[in-house]
Formats: sequence, structure tokens, C-alpha cells
Amino acid sequence: VLSSLHDKPLAGKRVVVTAGPTQEALDPVRFISNHSTGKQGYAIARAARNLGAETVLITGPVSLAAPSEMEVVPVVSAREMFEAVKARQDADIFVLAAAVSDFRPKVVSDQKIKKRDAALVTELEPNPDILAWLGEHKRPGQKLVGFAMETQNLEENARHKLEAKHCNLLVANDLFVPGAGFGTDTNVVLFITPEKTRRLEKTTKEDLGYRILEEAAGC
Ligand code: CTP
Ligand code: CA
Repeated sequence: VLSSLHDKPLAGKRVVVTAGPTQEALDPVRFISNHSTGKQGYAIARAARNLGAETVLITGPVSLAAPSEMEVVPVVSAREMFEAVKARQDADIFVLAAAVSDFRPKVVSDQKIKKRDAALVTELEPNPDILAWLGEHKRPGQKLVGFAMETQNLEENARHKLEAKHCNLLVANDLFVPGAGFGTDTNVVLFITPEKTRRLEKTTKEDLGYRILEEAAGC
């Protein structure tokens, strides 16, 4: 059913997807970020659109082409991403695939920091946890999908995130497994739900987009 583009099982549903990294400025030329390319999040957004959902893609800075026939909201920082998500809090399904920076520099210099003036230690402060906020404010019937990329204790860490953030599904991958992780076209994941853990065979990020929505929406 899901691979058929003639069926629109998500027609009438509003799906919000976050994708890519966030960037946290240190000064006008430098930032703190991570290796996320946005590939998995963009694939999920395209799958949602193809399944008939009214789709919003909230994206950090990536070098992928903006997909058509959906609302694309470009953001830079975690706080901007948080505002964009909060403005759409009444959606039916959220898939938070973005790699959000956990911290930001406490002070952002409005001029380029010169090496002669730079302290070797920069103070950071925590960013809002967008998924945790959605979990705390969860509405009846709403479905929340989170991601976890881990380098150790994959299932245990990911199940903890599922519970702490009140998710319906946690998609967990291990950075060190071949075919998973940053920039690849494939992924190797666990589907962790409150009831059980399921290990999926290695699959394309494109195909995984459909499977995630199928699992979350039960379509
Ligand atoms: N997430 C988020 N906002 C944040 C941090 C994370 O929405 N500020 C979301 C991610 O998009 C992902 C999930 O929470 O769907 C888990 O992110 P992850 O970084 O693995 O978990 P953390 O709770 O930040 O824990 P840690 O980085 O310490 O492993
Ligand atoms: Ca994190």
C-alpha cells in the first residue's frame, strides 16, 4: 500500500518533520554544529507528501534541494527551530529527525573574534529540547517520532529517550554500524515503541521514510 503513490493514506493529516543540523553562532563567521546532512529527514518529508499529508519541513542549513509541494521552513539555530515547531503544535504527526545542538555559546560576539583576544574556553548554555517539549504538551491522538543516534548502549539509551520524551516511536541508529549514519543513502535502525523493539534490515533512507510513517500512523 505504502509504495503505491495512488493511495493517499495520510490525506487530511498534518505532518511536521525537522531535518538537518542546527548552527549555533560564536561570532559572525563561526558556529557550533554537527555532521547531519538532512538526508533522512528530507526523505521522510517527501514520503509524507507522497502519502497525501499536508507536510511541513523545518530544516537546518543543508545542501539539499528544497522539495516541492510542501511548506519548507528554513531555520539556523535550535531556538529558531523550536519557534517554528511551536507555531505548528496542532499537527497530527511529528517526526523530529533534526540533529539539534544541545548547547549554544552563552555570548555571541557581534564582531569576529580575534585570536589575540580569544579565551581558550567558551561558555555554553543549554538549548531547549524540542522533542521533550512536544512530549510534555502532547495532544490526544498526536503521534511523536524521535530519533537517537548513539555510539554505545543503543537500545537502552534509545528506550530511555522514548520514555523520557513521551514518543510513540523512537528510531535508533548506531553511528559505528556500516551503512548507517551521516551522509549515507542507507540506514540500519531499531524501531523502539512502548511495547517492543524491532530490528529492521538495512534499507534506503527513502524507504525508511515510508516505514517510519507507516509505523507512526498505522497506515
Ligand atoms: N531533540 C530535540 N531538541 C533538542 C535535542 C534533541 O528535539 N534540543 C530531538 C532530536 O531531534 C531527536 C531526539 O530529540 O529526535 C533525540 O536526540 P538526541 O540528541 O539523540 O538526544 P538527547 O536527548 O539530546 O540526548 P544526548 O544528546 O545526550 O544523547
Ligand atoms: Ca543531543
